[in-house]
Amino acid sequence: MTIATELFDLTGEVAMVTGASSGLGWRFAQVLAGQGAKVVLAARRTERLLDLKTEIENTGGAAHCVALDVADRGAIVAAFDEAEEAFGPVTIQVNNAGMAIQKMALETSEKDWRMLMDVNLDAVWWCSREAAKRMISARKPGCIINTSSILATNAMPTLSVYSITKAAVSQMTRSMAVEFARHNIRVNAIAPGYVRTEINSDALDSAKGDVLKKAIPQRRFGEPEDLDGILLLLASEKAGGFMTGEVVVVDGGHSVAI
Ligand SMILES: NC(=O)c1ccc[n+]([C@@H]2O[C@H](COP(=O)([O-])OP(=O)(O)OC[C@H]3O[C@@H](n4cnc5c(N)ncnc54)[C@H](OP(=O)(O)O)[C@@H]3O)[C@@H](O)[C@H]2O)c1
Repeated sequence: MTIATELFDLTGEVAMVTGASSGLGWRFAQVLAGQGAKVVLAARRTERLLDLKTEIENTGGAAHCVALDVADRGAIVAAFDEAEEAFGPVTIQVNNAGMAIQKMALETSEKDWRMLMDVNLDAVWWCSREAAKRMISARKPGCIINTSSILATNAMPTLSVYSITKAAVSQMTRSMAVEFARHNIRVNAIAPGYVRTEINSDALDSAKGDVLKKAIPQRRFGEPEDLDGILLLLASEKAGGFMTGEVVVVDGGHSVAI
């Protein structure tokens, strides 16, 4: 066994990925399963989750689907119950479900604000607490990985509320990291730049997308697999065991370019 294989081996771990029905979450679940973790796939579109479950099982992995609207707090608790029944306590919690509503601040309604807060922020808080409580009572070390964004620190017209939720997720990552360290729970976040998925493919494929691409030093948008390495570093106790409270930017140099 090479050092790398050992470092990123997740055999014995149980990972829950929210927003596993498309984009980054789909890829995260595939990657974690590929390294030996049993994965719980959570989202609203369960027919898509079933396709992913089949794909994972066909390559020798183990997956279980859970119908979950992360804006429903009762459903979060039920999802963890179901996950535990299927595979035992979750030890890697990936809070990835998210949405965007593109509107100028002055055009944003109270409903838009509430929806973005519920899905992108409140759900991360409640899922993290639920995961941590269960790791603690099972006396298992574990980790929480949040999906933040470069918009947590950089601003762009029409995405103010989205950016506010991501800034809060980054700060939640740091705050929970300092509290949960005593329980052997690491909390980190990935802050992707523009990665082509359903959330943004229309925008990235437009003329505006071409302008955006020119602002990225590497002159390309990311692909979900560009996050494989950071995901495994943060998920693996052997590889990233001394890392907590970090928000790691993966963006082709976008956010450091003037
Ligand atoms: N792609 C990028 O460039 C980029 C950059 C920075 C950050 N991010 C973040 O990365 C995460 C994943 O986004 P993506 O790019 O992969 O977009 P995506 O393809 O649109 O995926 C979003 C996922 O979130 C789930 N979701 C949305 N609302 C939900 C709800 N109420 N309950 C449960 N699941 C819900 C969706 O599942 P269902 O609809 O089936 O429920 C879907 O699986 C998001 O947090 C996003 O903000 C993305």
